[in-house]
Amino acid sequence: MNIAADEAVHSTTLPSTFEDIVRRRRTVYFFEDRDVPRHLLEQALELAVFAPSHFNTRPWRFTVFAGSARNELAAAYEKAAMRMGWHPLRARSRAFDAPVTVVIGCVPDVRHPRVRPLEEEFASAAATQNLMLALTSMHLASALSSSPLQVSREVERAAGIVSGRVIGVLQVGYRDTTRELFKRPRPDISGVVHWR
Ligand SMILES: Cc1cc2nc3c(=O)[nH]c(=O)nc-3n(C[C@H](O)[C@H](O)[C@H](O)COP(=O)(O)O)c2cc1C
Repeated sequence: MNIAADEAVHSTTLPSTFEDIVRRRRTVYFFEDRDVPRHLLEQALELAVFAPSHFNTRPWRFTVFAGSARNELAAAYEKAAMRMGWHPLRARSRAFDAPVTVVIGCVPDVRHPRVRPLEEEFASAAATQNLMLALTSMHLASALSSSPLQVSREVERAAGIVSGRVIGVLQVGYRDTTRELFKRPRPDISGVVHWR
């Protein structure tokens, strides 16, 4: 038997493509000044919505700010910063750190009597992870953040999130590889997985 085929039959690992994508996804803070093709964002968003949601409520919402639309996001950041006593111009500039920012909302299905807000946010978070992994598979980088500036009512309004809230924003672009990635603890299952 061919050795490669034998290994494939007996492999207990996931397909390497999936494993590579999961391992490659990192939070990236520095992006090239290069537009992201819209069709790639569309494909990634189409994969995002394959996430699970209890009772199929599909509470996730995505508002994409790219190009000149980032000015609307900048204005929202500025207003939120002023309300919170933060530096308005520094806040404003955050909207231009990446070529694209996707504001991620969660709109709980309030018509459903058994829906719990935590589950709805869980579902939106699952969609967010799908989105980040899809982008990684397309060699696009991202950074998820949920600072008070970004999950503010001003951003909510700019993103058109009604009857829900913003759970985070995802900056998207091509990674500037001249800048180092931030250090993080090595992902490790010891201490977080318990077998009974
Ligand atoms: C819900 C959530 C919110 C986050 N918010 C921020 C944030 O506000 N600012 C930030 O710099 N990073 C934020 N991060 C990114 C984490 O700092 C990052 O995921 C962590 O350091 C691990 O690095 P990695 O993503 O490269 O694996 C957030 C991550 C998650 C999951």
